[in-house]
Amino acid sequence: MRKKIVAGNWKMNTDAVSSKVLADIIVEGVKRQPVSAELILCPPFISLESICETLWSRGSKIKLGAQNMHYEDNGAFTGEISHTMLKSAGCEYVIIGHSERRRYFGETEETVNKRAVKSLQNNILPIVCIGETLAERQSDKTFDVLNTQIQGGLANISIEEAAKIIIAYEPVWAIGTGVNASPAQAEESHAFIRLELAKMFNPQTAESIPILYGGSVTAANARDLFAQKNVDGGLIGGASLNAESFLAIARSF
Ligand code: PGA
Repeated sequence: MRKKIVAGNWKMNTDAVSSKVLADIIVEGVKRQPVSAELILCPPFISLESICETLWSRGSKIKLGAQNMHYEDNGAFTGEISHTMLKSAGCEYVIIGHSERRRYFGETEETVNKRAVKSLQNNILPIVCIGETLAERQSDKTFDVLNTQIQGGLANISIEEAAKIIIAYEPVWAIGTGVNASPAQAEESHAFIRLELAKMFNPQTAESIPILYGGSVTAANARDLFAQKNVDGGLIGGASLNAESFLAIARSF
């Protein structure tokens, strides 16, 4: 049985106060009614430490993740955040290669790969994001794009390391648009991704890697998406900013 995971990607939303309030309500909600899935909160960098403190002081099992990480250890990289910094703030996970990073901040397969390798070397588990644009889907290139992103993003990673990765399939056309992939579309891509992982690593490892779906997941569509054989949970953007909807999604297995 693969782990079920629901991760909240808060993106560039909330501030030092509102992020703590949101985390507090989620922690309380899970205390009142436990969830079987592993929950990961990915707030902005400035809130990592205070949310870590909240989780720790309440004895919560909820995990903490960052939204990005630089691939160098330290040095003159103004504005960047290293694995050591994330570790010291209590992060166990990091989102790597989100399509917004690829689109607005010049992230490439090569830099995605460097980040993935560095996070694994330092025991921060990467949630590697892949997914096609609308134009790529419409021109029947979805599988080619996924193949390129898997081959490029996961290069130089050993089988042992691969077993620690989480993949997030996030079709770009579904992110923040209110148009989610249908459960059948998600399953088709997830099954393809698992097959590619099996070829790249081995079938047992591929079977063990959680593949999350992301893109306009809501409390209304989560159950049908998560019911698919190869969909092991979700990476939630907009709906993770509301504690009730995030908790409802977390209970959709
Ligand atoms: P969304 O974002 O749920 O707002 O579509 C998902 C994501 O970008 O991770």
